Amino acid sequence: MSYQNILCAVAEGIATVTVNRPDKLNALNRQTIAELTACFRDLAAADEVRVVLLTGAGEKAFVAGADIGELADLTASAAEALACGGQALMDLIENLGKPVIGVINGFALGGGCELAMACTFRYAADTARLGLPETGLGLIPGFGGTQRLPRLVGRGRAQELVLGGDMVPSEEAMAMGLVNKVFPASELMPAALKTAGRLAGKSRLTLGLALKAVGDGLQMTQAGGCRLEAALFGVAGASQDAREGCRAFLEKRKPEFQDS
Ligand code: COA
Repeated sequence: MSYQNILCAVAEGIATVTVNRPDKLNALNRQTIAELTACFRDLAAADEVRVVLLTGAGEKAFVAGADIGELADLTASAAEALACGGQALMDLIENLGKPVIGVINGFALGGGCELAMACTFRYAADTARLGLPETGLGLIPGFGGTQRLPRLVGRGRAQELVLGGDMVPSEEAMAMGLVNKVFPASELMPAALKTAGRLAGKSRLTLGLALKAVGDGLQMTQAGGCRLEAALFGVAGASQDAREGCRAFLEKRKPEFQDS
């Protein structure tokens, strides 16, 4: 499918999705949200895609937020509908069933920070800055930021960032758990591709089960999450890939997984 505001390329099991409005710092207008939603639906269904990288075009921004041009004159129902549409995209990415690595090459603000937080984990350039500046616009985060940020960094830091609206450099974001690793800008994409390549070599079944155990488990009590983990461990344990992985270890060879 061809898109106006995003790029999507697939090579060796790795899809790279690039938000491509660099003149607007890759801001998420409605069309971009719709295109990302269609693209991620396709990627979820595409068997050849094992891992997804999500990044922004140009050197300046990952995504600098929702498109402020579409926020100035909203009614309550239009604003709520916009939030629901953005949240549906974030939920789709978070629950894709395959890893999505956020490759934060520059500003990740507002909806851009929320997009990054919906990814499985995040790598950032040392030049990137992250934050939820919505209160400065008389708004609050609407694409899940008030919920995902405290789950990543804790309530106190999340409240400080949401209320104050300050941008934090990537090193500080890493120290609080908002990004996993920081790289010099030129090394960011090679590092993300290396990690994606390692994940693409694993069993798709196994990674899907692990993603479900962590993701669904976080919505439950610890006891419920452990029960879920045991059930999913049952599925993994009886799989061909568990037999192959364990035998390969014992036979001192590399496993050849079949995703089953
Ligand atoms: N929505 C719409 N347009 C945006 C945008 C957004 N979220 N963020 C940046 N842009 C546009 C600017 O309006 C400008 O367009 P123009 O050249 O047609 O005037 C272009 O992108 C470049 O941005 P500019 O502000 O000139 O770059 P800068 O280097 O001076 O500042 C930022 C960079 C990120 C600090 C600044 O653009 C900014 O604060 N953006 C908004 C961040 C935000 O509040 N996001 C949350 C939205 S809910």
